[in-house]
Amino acid sequence: MIHLKTHRILTGHRPTGPRHLGHLVGTLQNWVRLQDTHECFFLVADLHVLPTDYRNPAGIRANTLEVVADWLAAGIDPERSTLVLQSAVPEHSQLAMLLSMLVSETRLHRIPTYKEQVKQLGIQPSLGLLTYPVLQAADILLYKASLVPVGEDQLPHIELSREIARRFNSLYGDLFPEPQALLSTMPRLPGVDNRMMHTSYGNAIFLRDSEEETTRKVMSMFTDPHRIHPTDPGKIEDNPLFIYLEQFDADREQIEEYKNRYRLGKIGDVEIKQYLSKKLNQSLEPLRERRAKLIAQPAYLREILFHGSNRARQIARQTLEEALSAMGLTLGLALQPESRQSNPATGAFC
Ligand code: TRP
Repeated sequence: MIHLKTHRILTGHRPTGPRHLGHLVGTLQNWVRLQDTHECFFLVADLHVLPTDYRNPAGIRANTLEVVADWLAAGIDPERSTLVLQSAVPEHSQLAMLLSMLVSETRLHRIPTYKEQVKQLGIQPSLGLLTYPVLQAADILLYKASLVPVGEDQLPHIELSREIARRFNSLYGDLFPEPQALLSTMPRLPGVDNRMMHTSYGNAIFLRDSEEETTRKVMSMFTDPHRIHPTDPGKIEDNPLFIYLEQFDADREQIEEYKNRYRLGKIGDVEIKQYLSKKLNQSLEPLRERRAKLIAQPAYLREILFHGSNRARQIARQTLEEALSAMGLTLGLALQPESRQSNPATGAFC
């Protein structure tokens, strides 16, 4: 089969914990759609967890398979897309080393995500934290991806990747396309406390939560803070109840009716929460079933990761050789027997 999907996509998540509804609505549903039109690489960026979590090896191990189970349950298709485990493809680290020559230290200090993390962690930042975005640039450039679907917070990293690509190309000749960010158009789903949904805020509904757990969280959901009695007129805007209903209930007429009654103070929060729980659970049920089956088969999940990483590695190795060679490090290449196999960039996906 000839590959007609022209634009290659690379994106990924750090395996920091199971995925939640914010990931599903903002990210995963978008990735699932992109599989129809693009050649997709989905990266489990486990090396990227280390700068913040290097003291917790057991956590990284467990979370990697949780994330893969969530991705597959949400519709990521390992037959059509390539799942890559970052640490299983050493070329990520190797290319990052080469690229680190092309970025100044002060440039990295200015990156907002770095400054924020340093503030939050309250410890001496490591070299690994500082060079995090260089590793991310390597993730992207290694596959010569042209599009990178990410959230807004990641834009500084994509901008740095573009700078690095330009610098490399101008010094050594064209090798890397300048990657472009692809911003999700979905509005952010709030957490149950109406802040941004985030694992560490304790306000997330996880894909792996049971029906009961999900219902419990919905029943505790923040609504209109100025509404004390069900007979008070309520506000729809910025009210998580209605943001969720828009997202998880296809019955537009019913939603409109609830909205009208809510505005007029003719329905209580509890009744809407019960309705939302029912609809949300219905909508998540098929995903939960797939997830339960997947998480019960860790060997299968590992196999998907190994298979994808192997496939990715063929491309990664080729790019790394091109980069090494462009930078004058050619002698070592002759020592690697596997480097003289058929051209994997053209052969791997045919
Ligand atoms: N830094 C990204 C995040 O925290 C994860 C990531 C690592 C990534 N490598 C990537 C995203 C490459 C896109 C492309 O969400």
